[in-house]
Amino acid sequence: MTKTKVCIIGASGKLGQYLVQHALDRDYEVVGVCREQSVGKLDAFRERITIIPGATNDAEIIREAVAGCDGVLAVLVPWGVNGYASGTAQAVLDNAPENARLIFSCGWHITKDGRDVYSWQFKTLISAMGWLARRFRLFDLNDQVEACRLIFSSDTRWTVVRGSDLEEGESQGLPVWSRHVGDPVLASNLTRRTDFALFMVAALDNDELIQEAPAIVGCKTPSALSNKCVGS
Ligand SMILES: NC(=O)c1ccc[n+]([C@@H]2O[C@H](COP(=O)([O-])OP(=O)(O)OC[C@H]3O[C@@H](n4cnc5c(N)ncnc54)[C@H](OP(=O)(O)O)[C@@H]3O)[C@@H](O)[C@H]2O)c1
Repeated sequence: MTKTKVCIIGASGKLGQYLVQHALDRDYEVVGVCREQSVGKLDAFRERITIIPGATNDAEIIREAVAGCDGVLAVLVPWGVNGYASGTAQAVLDNAPENARLIFSCGWHITKDGRDVYSWQFKTLISAMGWLARRFRLFDLNDQVEACRLIFSSDTRWTVVRGSDLEEGESQGLPVWSRHVGDPVLASNLTRRTDFALFMVAALDNDELIQEAPAIVGCKTPSALSNKCVGS
């Protein structure tokens, strides 16, 4: 039997390394893409995965990395002001094999249908972060919005997983999800980073999540324990 083959784009970051671990736990063949200067961060996995160094928005790199893959797990990050997140999304959409499952990460600030309800604290935080980032040309949150617009208008087998605030710590199990920020089940706004990755890897073979943008929260958080949700 042939192994399931997945490509992890942004493999060297915190979320990326958890994705690699969960994919290996499932005995998947793993190809990881990360910036050249970050290859050393994957030393612990060096014998067990193929690493392709390069920018994640480089279409040539992505074409090589996703060839023959059943699934692509892409960490979307809005670094810089030159379309890094949207370039990454476009490169994946253009080059992934036709029936591959494409799973992207982002945050709650992304909305698919405009029906998310945000607290004033969340809106203030996002606009302050956006202003600071633009002012110092560090990152561009609007480019992550553009990346997701490209994904949402694609007819590929995509899922955009929207992470809450994150914390480190041991896995608590598969997060629960809901379609809209503001739904009571999400009120705790906290997920373990390892479980964010677990949800993304589990989404590879969950067809119910195709063309969905689940917002997730830790399954042991008070709001998850006391409310009904889509994913429980
Ligand atoms: N942090 C949060 O609280 C939070 C909350 C909700 C959702 N999310 C989502 O979770 C995902 C992962 O975010 P994270 O915060 O946990 O970080 P992370 O997993 O550590 O990922 C950061 C990524 O950005 C890359 N990167 C760093 N500096 C860069 C630069 N100058 N140019 C290009 N790439 C650069 C890193 O690559 P290197 O290894 O090469 O540095 C790494 O792949 C993102 O999709 C984010 O939107 C995060």
